[in-house]
Amino acid sequence: MVIQIAPSILSADFSKLGEEVVLMEKGGADWIHIDVMDAHFVPNLTFGPPVIKAIRPVTKVPFDVHLMVDNPMEYIDDYIKAGADSITVHAEVLPHLQRSVTYLKQKGVRAAVSLNPSTPLNVLEYVLEDLDMVLLMTVNPGFGGQSFIPSMMRKISSLKKMIDERQCKVDIQVDGGISLNNIQKVAKAGANCFVAGSSIFSAPDPAGMISQMRRAAES
Ligand code: DX5
Ligand code: ZN
Repeated sequence: MVIQIAPSILSADFSKLGEEVVLMEKGGADWIHIDVMDAHFVPNLTFGPPVIKAIRPVTKVPFDVHLMVDNPMEYIDDYIKAGADSITVHAEVLPHLQRSVTYLKQKGVRAAVSLNPSTPLNVLEYVLEDLDMVLLMTVNPGFGGQSFIPSMMRKISSLKKMIDERQCKVDIQVDGGISLNNIQKVAKAGANCFVAGSSIFSAPDPAGMISQMRRAAES
């Protein structure tokens, strides 16, 4: 699978969000990762559809919207209208996950499902083939700048095996604690799409860090 880098604007300077997004485009970002948090599902509050809509005209880079909210389907059309190209919902909050995934596909956006670190892979058993991407959280969601949880390496490898056995084409995205120090190892375990917030935005050259990370993942 092709290596993709998805800078998370959670770690961007919000006072100049548009410029930060343009900078990520210049650096060759494959996606702009947008973390939506509701202070219920996760202990933090970020942005919603109006902010996504406001930054949509500044770039052609597709938007990867990660919904860390209790009721993602309630406002799903608003995120699609605001300009989401890919939407990730959490399995933990969706009893009718298959229905939610089908809805996203019908609306013409990429459908992805995320699992918190402690959520087992078997919740994907009967939806995997319907997905474009699985997002494995490699930290407990809510904040940027946390450390990668080591046992997630095993989870990434198991998911990769599951996907290969079924011969389906599903991206494995990882989110949390991804940096130049561990991206190669995580790629070797089977991930191909890398969300990175603090390691990109706190780098002396954030745009340059995108290609450095890509090269490391490809090596
Ligand atoms: C965490 C978010 C992440 C966050 C990652 O809950 O889903 O996307 O921005 O931040 P870093 O890369 O700093 O761990
Ligand atoms: Zn995220």
